[in-house]
Amino acid sequence: MKIDHELLEEFERMLDTRQPEDGPVPIRVLGFGEISLVFEILTEKNEGLAFKRLPIFDTEEQVARHVNAYNEYNRLLKEEVGINVPPYGTDWVFSGKKKKKITLFCVQEKLNPASIGNQVIHHVSDEEIKILVGLILKELTKVWDFNQKKVPNLEIGFDGQISNWAVVDYDENDPRVTEQARLSYVDTSTPLFRIDGEEAMEPVLFLKSAPSGLRWLLKLLFLQEVVDRYYDFRSVVTDLLANFYKEQLPEIVPSLIDLVNEFFTNEGKQFEMEPFTLEEIESYYKGDKRIWVIFQGFRRMDRFIKTKILRKKYDFYLPDKIKR
Ligand SMILES: Nc1ncnc2c1ncn2[C@@H]1O[C@H](COP(=O)(O)OP(=O)(O)O)[C@@H](O)[C@H]1O
Ligand SMILES: [Mg+2]
Repeated sequence: MKIDHELLEEFERMLDTRQPEDGPVPIRVLGFGEISLVFEILTEKNEGLAFKRLPIFDTEEQVARHVNAYNEYNRLLKEEVGINVPPYGTDWVFSGKKKKKITLFCVQEKLNPASIGNQVIHHVSDEEIKILVGLILKELTKVWDFNQKKVPNLEIGFDGQISNWAVVDYDENDPRVTEQARLSYVDTSTPLFRIDGEEAMEPVLFLKSAPSGLRWLLKLLFLQEVVDRYYDFRSVVTDLLANFYKEQLPEIVPSLIDLVNEFFTNEGKQFEMEPFTLEEIESYYKGDKRIWVIFQGFRRMDRFIKTKILRKKYDFYLPDKIKR
């Protein structure tokens, strides 16, 4: 994968995280998760690539560990588990005023933004949404089959959110999801796997975008829980279902729960999953929403203090208030 290193250096040097699209390096935001900023660079040389910016590293050792984990996670998913991931690569640059920090860019082949799950579900029928969720369940089953059967000291974690999937060959002018559709999984920049119980990536990196004064508290309260949840099949499915509240499609949740429960009595029998209930998904959603609303609120406050009062640079891109 050919990556324009100089341009990334310039991008990082000139970046204003409040208006990432207004800098001298022309970019377009493709999406953002709770933590990262995903964009494409609008020059010929960088065409067709998606960049995920992670401005969270202090040392070269740290970034090397993350790059190794990222490469291995992609390889595991693709070759051992059998989940499609887009072609991938990485590059990193020194950043910050004193060039003491490091920003990593996880690079991927750019996929059609309209083909990402959280877009697709707003353009296809309820029947097709169900087909999509069914296809996602099959992919998730591969991960937990692997965890049950394969290498005993290796455990793979996974984030099955609707926004992490793309429908291959999706045509936004003729939006469809069929049983034959193939999926591709994009969210590999947070590599989740454990060898002999030890996390491949440094778990505190999860918290790096939190205000530093709050990190110890978040670590104490949430870190283990947040990380563990990606290793638990039930939690991952719960999270996927709860996404439909966030996506303002609450009326489809009951039928998705039926679908999931049916799946786990047939194809997914071996997981001995207790039936999911609507109450469970609702209460998870409310709890999860609360965590993120608090977290984003603190981050906004932190940004305000840093940029307006201390006149310093703020490292992170914060999404506008997400409607939930
Ligand atoms: N390869 C890609 N091509 C196009 N859009 C992408 C790509 N990767 C990510 N995105 C967009 O960015 C969003 C966040 O990316 P993701 O990898 O899931 O990171 P995060 O860890 O922040 O959730 C995705 O939901 C999608 O909309
Ligand atoms: Mg994601």
